[in-house]
Amino acid sequence: MNPALDPVWRRRSVRRYLPGRPVGEEAIQDLLSAAMAAPSACNRRPWEFIVLTESERLAAVASLLPNGGFLAEAPLGIVVLGDIARAHAGELSYLLQDCSAAIENLLVAAAAMGLGACWLGVHPRADRIAGLRRLFSLPEAIVPVAVLAVGHPAEAPEPRTQFEPERVHRNGWPGRA
Ligand SMILES: Cc1cc2nc3c(=O)[nH]c(=O)nc-3n(C[C@H](O)[C@H](O)[C@H](O)COP(=O)(O)O)c2cc1C
Repeated sequence: MNPALDPVWRRRSVRRYLPGRPVGEEAIQDLLSAAMAAPSACNRRPWEFIVLTESERLAAVASLLPNGGFLAEAPLGIVVLGDIARAHAGELSYLLQDCSAAIENLLVAAAAMGLGACWLGVHPRADRIAGLRRLFSLPEAIVPVAVLAVGHPAEAPEPRTQFEPERVHRNGWPGRA
C-alpha cells in the first residue's frame, strides 16, 4: 500500500475514545476546514455542521442513534446537515453526495491527525431525521445527513484497503459491448 496514502489506509471506524481527553479547538477547526475543502456540485457547498462538546447534548444525540450509543462517551460529535435550498438544482441527491464528500474528508483528516472517528448513519432513516429535527428545532430546509463521533482513540484497528480486483472493469461492463 502506497505510504503517501497512509491517512486513507488508517481511516478506520474507531468507536472507543480515551476518557478525559477533549479534542482541542484548533483540531476542531482543522477537521471542519478539511470537511469544507470537499468538492460539491457546482461548488454550492450546501453543508452545515453542529459541533457537540457538551456531554448532555452528546448523550441526547446518542440516544437517537440505535447504532451510535458510544457517541455519549466521545468528547466530540459533529452533526452534518445539508441545506436543500443551497444544493445544486435543489436536489436531495446532490446534497447527500456533497455532504458525504465533506464527511469523508473529515474522517481522513481525523486519521491524519491521530484522532479516531466513526460515521453514524442518519439519512435516510426517518426516525433519526425526525429526532434530530426535533432536538435542534431545525428549519424545514435543513436535512440531517450523519453524525460523526470523534475522540482520541482507545482502539487501533489495522490500516487497510479492501481492494477487490473483481470490482474493477476496464473500458466497459464485462460481457457487454
Ligand atoms: C452511511 C454510513 C452509515 C454508518 N453508520 C454507522 C453506525 O450507525 N454505527 C457504526 O458504528 N458505524 C457506522 N458506520 C461505519 C461502518 O460500519 C464502517 O465504515 C464499516 O464497517 C467499515 O469499517 P471501517 O470504517 O473501519 O473501514 C457507517 C458508515 C457509513 C458509510
